[in-house]
Amino acid sequence: SGSRRVPPGRAMERMEVTETFAGIALPGHLHTQESLGFAAAFTFRPTDVLIATYPKSGTTWMQEILTLLFSLGDARPAKTIPNWERAPWLEQIYCREALQDTETPRLLTTHLPAHVLAPALQRSKAKVIYVARNPKDVAVSFYHFHHLAKFLPDPSSFDDFLTQFLEGTVHYGSWFDHVKGWLGQRHLLDILYVTYEELHQDLRGTAQRLSTFLGCPLAPGTLAALEQHCSFSAMRDNTMANYSLIPNEIMDHSQGRFMRKGQGELGWGARGVWECSIPDSPSPLSHRGGRGLAQPLL
Ligand code: A3P
Repeated sequence: SGSRRVPPGRAMERMEVTETFAGIALPGHLHTQESLGFAAAFTFRPTDVLIATYPKSGTTWMQEILTLLFSLGDARPAKTIPNWERAPWLEQIYCREALQDTETPRLLTTHLPAHVLAPALQRSKAKVIYVARNPKDVAVSFYHFHHLAKFLPDPSSFDDFLTQFLEGTVHYGSWFDHVKGWLGQRHLLDILYVTYEELHQDLRGTAQRLSTFLGCPLAPGTLAALEQHCSFSAMRDNTMANYSLIPNEIMDHSQGRFMRKGQGELGWGARGVWECSIPDSPSPLSHRGGRGLAQPLL
C-alpha cells in the first residue's frame, strides 16, 4: 500500500517489555504471543520467498536486492515503500495486516530460529534465503545497534555484551544456534545460503545466483541498477531502507546510524560458514586456518 511509514508498535521505555518465545527473548515492542503464534502457524504459498537471518547479518541488504530483482531493476518501489512493508517480518505485530492485500510473489522476512518455522515451511514449497555474517562483525554491529534501538536492553560495556552474545542470552537468542538450525534445514527446504561477505565480494554474481534460485529472469540493465541502488552509500541515503523514518522514541538517531559502517571482515571466506557444515572440516568458519570465533561452538 505504501501508506504506512512507521510500523505500529507498543509504547515502551527501554527494557520495558520483553516477550519470550521458544526460549528466546524478543523485543516486546514488536512481538506478542499472538504475533509469534501467527508466524509459527503461517500458511506459506508456493510463491512466497522468505529471507531468514540472525539480526545484523545483512537482512536489509537482502530485502533491497530482492526488491530490485523482482522489480526488474526499477528502483521506484525501493524508493517509495519502506522496507518493512516490502518484506514484512512474519513474527512482528503488524504482519497480518501488512499482508492483507499483498500480491504474489510475497517477500517475507524473519529472525526466528529454524525450529519454529520449519514445520510450516516443510509443508510448503516456499523458497528460503538464509543470510549469515561473520559472528565477530554481527556482535559489533549488534552492540552498536543496542545503543540506537530503544526496544533492546541497554548493552552496558562491549565486554559484557560479548559475553551475553556468546552465551546466547541476548535478544533473538544464540547466533550459533540460529546458523546451525537453519543449516540443518538444507535437505528439507528449498533454501539458498548466502553470506554478507559474499555480497561484498561479488554483488553481481550473488544477484545472478539469487535470480537463478528464484526463477526470476534478469532484464537488461537489472544488474547495473541493482549494483547502483544496493550499494552501501545509496542505501544509507534511502529513507525507505535506512530506518531514519522511525521516531526517536523507538530509535535514538543521535546514537548513530542504522547504516553504520557496512564493512565485512575480509579474511572470513565467503563460503566459510557453509563449509563448517561438512563434518570434520579442517578449519570451519576460518579460511585463515586459525580458530574462528565460532569454531569451538559449531
Ligand atoms: P554495520 O553495523 O556493521 O554497519 P541487518 O539489516 O541484518 O540489521 O544488518 C545491518 C548491517 O548491514 C549493518 O552493519 C549495515 O550497515 C549493513 N548493511 C546494510 N546495507 C548494506 C550495504 N548495502 N552494504 C554493506 N553493508 C550493509
